[in-house]
Amino acid sequence: MEYTIEVMISRDRIEKKVKELAAQIEKDHKGKELIFIGLLKGSVVFMSDLIKEIKLPIMIDFMSVSSYGSGTKTTGIVKILKDVDFEVKDKELFIVEDIIDSGLTLKYVKEFLLAKGAKVVHICTLLDKPQRRKVDIKSDYVGFEIPDEFVVGYGLDYAQKHRNLPYVGKVVVRNGNQSS
Ligand code: IMP
Ligand code: MG
Repeated sequence: MEYTIEVMISRDRIEKKVKELAAQIEKDHKGKELIFIGLLKGSVVFMSDLIKEIKLPIMIDFMSVSSYGSGTKTTGIVKILKDVDFEVKDKELFIVEDIIDSGLTLKYVKEFLLAKGAKVVHICTLLDKPQRRKVDIKSDYVGFEIPDEFVVGYGLDYAQKHRNLPYVGKVVVRNGNQSS
């Protein structure tokens, strides 16, 4: 598939938004100790920028999850490829994610962490595509709501590429023929 990438959210806008989100999280959690759990790999760029701006005692951990069932048909069942290392019982957690699409991944991971005894599980996501939601799940902190477009950059990939772009860009298919 031939495609180009058009800037949707510039580096400057992302930097500004990350600072705003960090300030809000800091204000809402004064005096608390938080564990930030990034979902690999998409959250890595966002999470590393975000945590540097929050002046609270933060510990970080990562999970790796993948949807069961190949291709575009998501079943809602998520396979845990890497679990958290920390004991999360009675802890206050933040799941950090690049984007909420159907919401299936975050709903599953949130319930999984609550089942392990976490006291609270907050969600912070850089992007949200509300039109695509299939299950009822809300992110407590959202950077940008975007339309139903496929985006890459700032952690997000297309076939594992473009995660290192410093902006979020829309994938635009060049020739009408979409047969990969
Ligand atoms: P959900 O379970 O449908 O909410 O899936 C969210 C996951 O789908 C994200 O963590 C991304 O890995 C992936 N995803 C959804 N939309 C996009 C996109 O526009 N670009 C890149 N990855 C996406
Ligand atoms: Mg992801």
